[in-house]
Amino acid sequence: MSRPTSSPEALKFIHRFVPATAGGPAPVLLLLHGTGGNENDLLDLGHSLLPGAALLSPRGKILENGMPRFFRRLAEGVFDEEDLIHRTHELADFIEAAAKRYAFDPHNVVAVGYSNGANIAASTLLLRPGALRGAVLLRAMTPLIPEKLPDLTGVSVFLASGRNDPIVPAASVEQLTALLRKAKAEVALQWSPAGHHLTPQEIDAAREWLEPVIHLS
Ligand code: MLT
Repeated sequence: MSRPTSSPEALKFIHRFVPATAGGPAPVLLLLHGTGGNENDLLDLGHSLLPGAALLSPRGKILENGMPRFFRRLAEGVFDEEDLIHRTHELADFIEAAAKRYAFDPHNVVAVGYSNGANIAASTLLLRPGALRGAVLLRAMTPLIPEKLPDLTGVSVFLASGRNDPIVPAASVEQLTALLRKAKAEVALQWSPAGHHLTPQEIDAAREWLEPVIHLS
């Protein structure tokens, strides 16, 4: 008996996949939750940002006091870089495996990450160019400085950051923005008078930003 070329077992993350209900050029949204979240957290956000788009939502594999995360940290804002690099490649491999399993275009994936999820999305942009064609980074900071900057020509990134965020230093947001721009990504950075929690206005801004981006090839 022949075996399927790709099986769900090959997808090494607990995850949800919601197929697209609309045709057209819409990307698959890769939803990456924050610390303590799971694969269900951002489904409503994904539906709201891009109605009808396919959603791929993995659960981070690291447990910190029982809370799922996408990579280890040594303290708040201090990352275990070796683990981060390993987990970034693991996530990028998961996107490729999921594209085969669910028959979507691996070159048409836009990440939507919040906090820890935004940080691994930023790391994926910096370490695995080609894995994402764009990203919505909600409360991201600089996850690492790569040895060599990737060429992110054609990649679009929206950052939503809070001026009063007690977790994400403004300097780290500015540094990430500069790194991505130096790598030739098209970056929009929006500051809000907010903390670590998102505001409805920022969700609206992310939706508006996504609209033209999905039509870029
Ligand atoms: C992180 O660890 O990725 C950031 O500190 C954000 C967080 O998850 O609290």
